[in-house]
Amino acid sequence: MDFQPDLGKDKDKLAEVIGQYDGLAIRSATKVTEKILANATNLKVIARAGIGTDNIDKEAASKKGVIVMNTPFGNMITTAEHAIAMMFAVARQVPEASASTHAGKWEKSKFMGTELTNKTLGVIGAGNIGGIVCDRARGLKMKVVAYDPFLSEERAAKMGVEKVELEDLLARADFITLHVPLTDQTRNILSRENLAKTKKGVRIINCARGGLVDEVALAEALQSGHVAGAAFDVFSEEPAKENALFNLPNVVCTPHLGAATTEAQENVALQVAEQMSNYLLTGAVENALNMPSVTAKKPRSWAPGSNWPSIWVPLLVR
Ligand code: MLT
Repeated sequence: MDFQPDLGKDKDKLAEVIGQYDGLAIRSATKVTEKILANATNLKVIARAGIGTDNIDKEAASKKGVIVMNTPFGNMITTAEHAIAMMFAVARQVPEASASTHAGKWEKSKFMGTELTNKTLGVIGAGNIGGIVCDRARGLKMKVVAYDPFLSEERAAKMGVEKVELEDLLARADFITLHVPLTDQTRNILSRENLAKTKKGVRIINCARGGLVDEVALAEALQSGHVAGAAFDVFSEEPAKENALFNLPNVVCTPHLGAATTEAQENVALQVAEQMSNYLLTGAVENALNMPSVTAKKPRSWAPGSNWPSIWVPLLVR
């Protein structure tokens, strides 16, 4: 295995060397474009140490027969916990109150917050991460309504949440949190039009993907007072150096830290290494996004030093 930790962001260098490799393990900063794939003459598998694969041109990969896999479970608790942390932060204006206290201001009356207990949390996407958020929110005595076309009534009942349509969620939620991937169906799901349908005083949390919320419309809704607060970990352009939400009062921002715990990073790193080597050595396919799962065939006869598969791993480079 060859570690080249500086290649993650250097697309020209990556395009130059990718032809040598059988496997490519990435996080979110490496963009696997059609151009990279055109040079990837030996590539068999791309594995994302994490969940979102919007940085991979999956159509181009599929056309070349390259398997795209992710590690959907390793960081789900960590990401759900960040969403809950962001919800508390925005409910009690923790970052602003902290900065003010550090500045010696002691502005006790400025930071009036709101309780979470008995409030309605609207969860958009109740899959792996959203499901954990629902569970934690119920523990906080919140009422949880979930919009998710893939959620059955039975499963919702088991989770103790109410399955609703998006319009209903928008009208009822005191807090809205997003837990869907960025796809053609979900892009701009909180559009200007949908933001206008939310309850006055709503607080919005996005620890899923930039592009799910119209950030300019949200900034205007915050300025008009319709939206009381927002907590964003992800932005339509990342790294986010400028954004319509920056520097607005009661907007909490973090730099895509959803999966940033030692536990989650260890989980996804191990999982990605295991899944890639399983595929390259035995043909077993797990958590692939462009083909069904396949159990191991008989082990391949890779002879170390000859045709041993070569994997490029810029893990932990974003
Ligand atoms: C993910 O998709 O796994 C998370 O957004 C975390 C990350 O991108 O590193």
